[in-house]
Amino acid sequence: MSTRIITAEQIAEQKVFSQRIRAIIGDENKIACIQTYGCQQNEADSERLAGMCEEMGYSFTDDPSKADLILVNTCAVREHAELKALSITGQFKHLKERKPSLIIAMCGCMVTQEHRLNDVKQKYPYVDFLFGTGMLWKFPEIMYEALTTKRRHFYENEDDGNIAEGLPVRRESNFKGWVSIMYGCNNFCTYCVVPYVRGRERSRQREDVLKEVRELVENGCREITLLGQNVNSYSGGCDFADLLADICEIDGDFIVRFMTSHPKDVSHKLIDTMAKYPKIARQFHLPLQSGSNRVLSAMNRRYTAESYIENVRYMREKMPDIALSTDIIVGFPTETDEEFEETLNVLREVRYDSIFSFIYSIRKGTKAAEMDGQISDEVKKERFARLLDTQNQISYEKNQSYVGKVIDVLVEGRSKTDDSKLTGRGERGRLVHFVGDDSLIGCHVNVKIVKAETYALYGEL
Ligand code: 5AD
Ligand code: SF4
Repeated sequence: MSTRIITAEQIAEQKVFSQRIRAIIGDENKIACIQTYGCQQNEADSERLAGMCEEMGYSFTDDPSKADLILVNTCAVREHAELKALSITGQFKHLKERKPSLIIAMCGCMVTQEHRLNDVKQKYPYVDFLFGTGMLWKFPEIMYEALTTKRRHFYENEDDGNIAEGLPVRRESNFKGWVSIMYGCNNFCTYCVVPYVRGRERSRQREDVLKEVRELVENGCREITLLGQNVNSYSGGCDFADLLADICEIDGDFIVRFMTSHPKDVSHKLIDTMAKYPKIARQFHLPLQSGSNRVLSAMNRRYTAESYIENVRYMREKMPDIALSTDIIVGFPTETDEEFEETLNVLREVRYDSIFSFIYSIRKGTKAAEMDGQISDEVKKERFARLLDTQNQISYEKNQSYVGKVIDVLVEGRSKTDDSKLTGRGERGRLVHFVGDDSLIGCHVNVKIVKAETYALYGEL
């Protein structure tokens, strides 16, 4: 198996399948419901799946009970995500009993694993078909099979990863757009299932990426997020820094974000490029995972806490206003209490604007799953709570420094917890609540901060 390029002819063949489906569906108003779990790459994949459904003649609903086709796009990165997708799929059983013509399908990372494919085969007989991450481009053909035969189908990946240009896309937002620049991962961090379910690392060609960004900007998109498991090892005809620079040279009023970066591949050239172009958001998500060099090595991360902190120092020297966020895993096998303390120390030193914290979850097939020294749930939970406490204290202190200041806020809507207030995002993505009129939704306003809590700021117009 190897990475392959899906040709324009192959994509055209798939369009023929979509047209055939359109002919079968005719004027029946068929409705699709796509449920997406997991990361932004899955969101981006679902937008392609929706694009293909649209070509087949489907319209859309968020309500599974109104659908003729339910497609569950699953995640495998932690057990919790898998259980959620399985449990929601379980709830669709009664919908199928009520409407036997309902098609229930699954795709994405979870069902790309052989053992989960078998689980679904055996325990979820009302799931009509499923397909691996690498079969997305073949969705029209797979759907055609489902509509024209009575058999259940289980499509495993046929390659170690592919690149398919020219798939239709139905974007969720007119203002924000995902652009995948690469797929897959070659890093094999020992805890992570991604390399096994998303295949080998491969980059889209620079021109293809630039064309997609240009089209988005021309259509009014204001926020482009470049996606890849490790955008820093982009290699589609130039390096990542040059790709970013090319994108910033495109005319238009937009900003660019990217995720995710691997600390071992963050270069000074990339940071210098960010500093040079105001179109690049002053925000960096840099997963640390652990602050202990011994644990980092057991995770196969290939950087040290010191080299990580040096990168942060350089970023802040070049962009003092940069907002930093990270991912932390607690309870990696063999992690000692002292080693966990080293993670807390890095948190205190870097003082992130926000962190995403995860309890280590055993992933079948990965190296860490086989390691001796798995940590008990009790210890993991206790460390997790300490991690949150440490970050909450930092967030609280950082938020306090805003009291008395006037900041620019993009108003998003009414506050979900207090209807009398509007809510929006201020500097560095901070949540701000204040009293104001609905007419301000979608506008930038100046808000004077009068009170700060751990998770939000409160202010006056
Ligand atoms: N257990 C817990 N967290 C994990 N992540 C990846 N694999 C695991 C796992 N097995 C976290 C990492 C990664 C984020 C997307 O999910 O922190 O950066
Ligand atoms: Fe997983 Fe590591 Fe690849 Fe990220 S870089 S997807 S954590 S293997």
